Amino acid sequence: MLIAPSVLAADLGHLARDVGAVEAAGADWIHVDVMDGHFVPNLSFGPVLVAAVRRATTLPIDVHLMIDAPEDTIDAYVDAGADAITVHAEATPHPHRALQRVRDAGLRVGLAVNPLTPLHVFDDAWPDLDLALVMSVNPGFGGQSFLASATRRLERLRAARDAAGAECRIQVDGGIDVSTARGAVDAGADVLVAGSAVFGGNDPGARLRALRGSLGT
Ligand code: DX5
Ligand code: ZN
Repeated sequence: MLIAPSVLAADLGHLARDVGAVEAAGADWIHVDVMDGHFVPNLSFGPVLVAAVRRATTLPIDVHLMIDAPEDTIDAYVDAGADAITVHAEATPHPHRALQRVRDAGLRVGLAVNPLTPLHVFDDAWPDLDLALVMSVNPGFGGQSFLASATRRLERLRAARDAAGAECRIQVDGGIDVSTARGAVDAGADVLVAGSAVFGGNDPGARLRALRGSLGT
């Protein structure tokens, strides 16, 4: 079970400190939420922040692009040091092209879906994917509550992944905390993204350990 703390909720004035704290506490990846103010109604980070995280950690950087037409700017995130890039199925008429650009760059490839996007978008994508991301909130903001419907979607996606025989991790993002993480894992998640649950207090390392402890593993 992998945990990917999202720096959206970190203290950006002390980014390296916060990233270092979760790395020391056993974080697996660092999740960076890129928002463009168009695909989602919030604006966050770009390649410069990814490069700053790159300098702060040796952990894999998991970039979640919540931007329109991601295929146009993927190269900038590759150059900034990303290890995985996830694009939204809804963000472009050419998700396959976007996934190919990530693959061609040698990175882990992810495809994300919003809460009401039909899961059959994954049917023909499995061979191209390392990560399938189920949003368990509407993307754009941290600190929202886990949508109950995500549990069933994780179960269905895991069944589809297994039926396809795909080597792809299922990731869940949004509202993951000590009360929701275990259920998400039981439903099928292999990677938990957590923002406020980890960085929402003054001891991110302790909060990460508590989150992992809630999994009972
Ligand atoms: C939401 C982002 C998430 C966000 C999660 O649009 O994709 O990664 O940081 O924040 P929490 O864990 O606070 O719901
Ligand atoms: Zn995210």
